[in-house]
Amino acid sequence: MKRIVVFASGSGSNAENLIRFFKNSDNASVIQVLTNNPHAKVLDRCKRLNISAVAFNRIAFSKSDDVLNILKSSQPDLIVLAGFLWKFPEFILNEFPNKVINIHPALLPKYGGKGMYGMHVHNAVVSNKEKETGITIHYVNENYDEGAIIFQAKCEVFPTDNSNDVAAKIHELEMNHFPIVVEKLLNG
Ligand code: GAR
Repeated sequence: MKRIVVFASGSGSNAENLIRFFKNSDNASVIQVLTNNPHAKVLDRCKRLNISAVAFNRIAFSKSDDVLNILKSSQPDLIVLAGFLWKFPEFILNEFPNKVINIHPALLPKYGGKGMYGMHVHNAVVSNKEKETGITIHYVNENYDEGAIIFQAKCEVFPTDNSNDVAAKIHELEMNHFPIVVEKLLNG
């Protein structure tokens, strides 16, 4: 059984989608969720879904080996950042080469980088009158949103769309594609 660890910072709809998808899989499962936010809605989702969840602070994550040691004992085949907003420390990445991936709600390299997350991305897409946007699933490296791209899917942006309309389209793409891409990576 392949082991997936998910990192999330907020609502956790992607985390829940991954958990539910892999509950029906014989090959992989989400064994743990880690969050930097002790008030994140993702923790309620984990409780409901009976998935182990741990909240950590900045010192545990990037100034000590605490989170690294949790990961080492979880022995993940894949670490999935699903709405995780902190920069992933290089010393943890080095322990898990090619095993950390992220989902970003835009067509990278457009609309990536520090501060570009969630609604900030959709607001920028709408104010720039983009005709299309989408999702990117990519490997994580030491820079925000710059690792090798694994998968992209697009949707149209209509002149009448506001940021919430775009967010809804992105949400649908994420729900439809993310678990399948993760499954393919694990089986590849
Ligand atoms: C998702 O749209 C994800 O792509 C985005 O945050 C949202 C989290 O939603 N990630 C980023 O913006 C990362 N830069 P969720 O908590 O409901 O899964």
